[in-house]
Amino acid sequence: MNRDHWNELAERFENEVMDMVQTDRNRVLRQMVSSIPETHRSTLVDLGCGIGTFIKTFGDLFDEVVGVDLSKRMLSRARRQCADLPHTSWLCADLKNAAEKLGEHADLTVCLNVITSGELRRRKSQWTSLKKVTRRDGYLIVGVPSLESAKMVSEVEDDDDSDITDDGLVSRDGVYQKFFSREEIREALIKRGFDVCSIKRVYYDWSEEGMPEPPKNADGYPWDWACLARRAA
Ligand SMILES: C[S@@+](CC[C@H](N)C(=O)[O-])C[C@H]1O[C@@H](n2cnc3c(N)ncnc32)[C@H](O)[C@@H]1O
Repeated sequence: MNRDHWNELAERFENEVMDMVQTDRNRVLRQMVSSIPETHRSTLVDLGCGIGTFIKTFGDLFDEVVGVDLSKRMLSRARRQCADLPHTSWLCADLKNAAEKLGEHADLTVCLNVITSGELRRRKSQWTSLKKVTRRDGYLIVGVPSLESAKMVSEVEDDDDSDITDDGLVSRDGVYQKFFSREEIREALIKRGFDVCSIKRVYYDWSEEGMPEPPKNADGYPWDWACLARRAA
């Protein structure tokens, strides 16, 4: 999805886009943020910040906050939503260029549901950007759609999973998006010099899958993956 598409979605964000902080049933993201030590609360960088929900919720725990997004319209909504956080600045940039502008700056880098492109090359450069923005021994929270969950949902719906490719691409509204297995996340981060602290399920309601009630044959809820990692010193 390109910049125009995200700009277009900005006004309809709540209805059309998955917001991990809002949908997190078991407050995994809050637990992860709480586990970041006081010594690492200077700078928070949220890459692909959307309308600023993460910053609104956790920004006051940090001395300085930077929200980065490709879409001007997302940023203008984020700026309005976070007007009471004067220590926050905003950067309209592609994730892959953020490091050039910010440097290895973040005590905590956050990137939730952004690395979903169907293009392997683009995803590789995005994983690398996470490293380039995070200071040595700094932390990262990255959230991505779960391949295991997509397969479970497909089973519950009694679909064959033919809309899931062998590479973990899943068709959503006619666009293929990358869904990750737990192991793929671990590999992507280790390859870029991160130590993985934990990978957890961020459960969300079935309504996000278009089902108003939990289906009778479902055992639990669908989920995204959230990973807390630390860049090696
Ligand atoms: C699914 S939304 C997630 C928003 C937010 N992280 C959240 O969890 O609520 C993806 C966001 O990433 C932004 N985005 C997508 N590709 C990007 C890129 N290459 N560089 C920077 N931002 C990007 C979009 O504009 C959108 O605001």
